[in-house]
Amino acid sequence: MENDFSRIKKTEYTQKFIESDYYKNDIFESKVYENFLTDAELDVFDEAARSDYVFYVHDTSMGPVSNRLFGEDPESHTTANYYIFENFYSKPEWSKLVDIIQPKLESTFGEGIYASHIHVLESCFPYGLHNDAEQPNMNIAPKPAWTLIIPFDDYPSKTYVFNERCGYKDPWSWIHNENIQPNETYCVSDETYEKDFVPITDKELMKYLTVESTFTWKRGSCFAADRYRYHCSDNYYNHGIQKKRAIIMWTSVKE
Ligand SMILES: [Fe+2]
Repeated sequence: MENDFSRIKKTEYTQKFIESDYYKNDIFESKVYENFLTDAELDVFDEAARSDYVFYVHDTSMGPVSNRLFGEDPESHTTANYYIFENFYSKPEWSKLVDIIQPKLESTFGEGIYASHIHVLESCFPYGLHNDAEQPNMNIAPKPAWTLIIPFDDYPSKTYVFNERCGYKDPWSWIHNENIQPNETYCVSDETYEKDFVPITDKELMKYLTVESTFTWKRGSCFAADRYRYHCSDNYYNHGIQKKRAIIMWTSVKE
């Protein structure tokens, strides 16, 4: 049914797409599309994210890291504010957004692609290394495809994407469960580590990874990266900014 946007059961999804070797079958290469959304289109999303219809989530997942590194009180910590466009394809309030984004998704990434999750992210603390595979998709398009990032501004900040892929969100689970051995050298130079990562992302992880691509946040550009690939933010505090905002989508396709 065209209008059936129901989701796969979490246990079923986890078994098939996260805990198995399923992800090894094919890879979605990283891509950048400049001017993916116009100023007027970005404004429509911006306005929608500020409306009463969004589902708000206060993310504090980096709280323990912030406490350990900077002594920040976990009670007052904010990793990010999420303004989620819940039930994206069926809620009438989002139909304007769907009309903008769906034709662009299909003409760029192919027919049968869906934004199985979409939100406006206000990032207040740089994300550590993770992947975006775990969110269950819709039955019409169950297979995880690309994570998309469409920034609202130009920022002196990069997203790093690594070649290494896995279903486990936490990279140490990947390393331990799959018995991954470290490389002899780090995948970034000491200079780059100091500039882009210190002290947030553990340097030891750089021995298990190789850089696939980086994306410098640019207003209206769309960056696409495989949802199973490990990725992280640079430490944008080192580049003089405290926050960044973007539209984030976790896309999926038919099998
Ligand atoms: Fe992510």
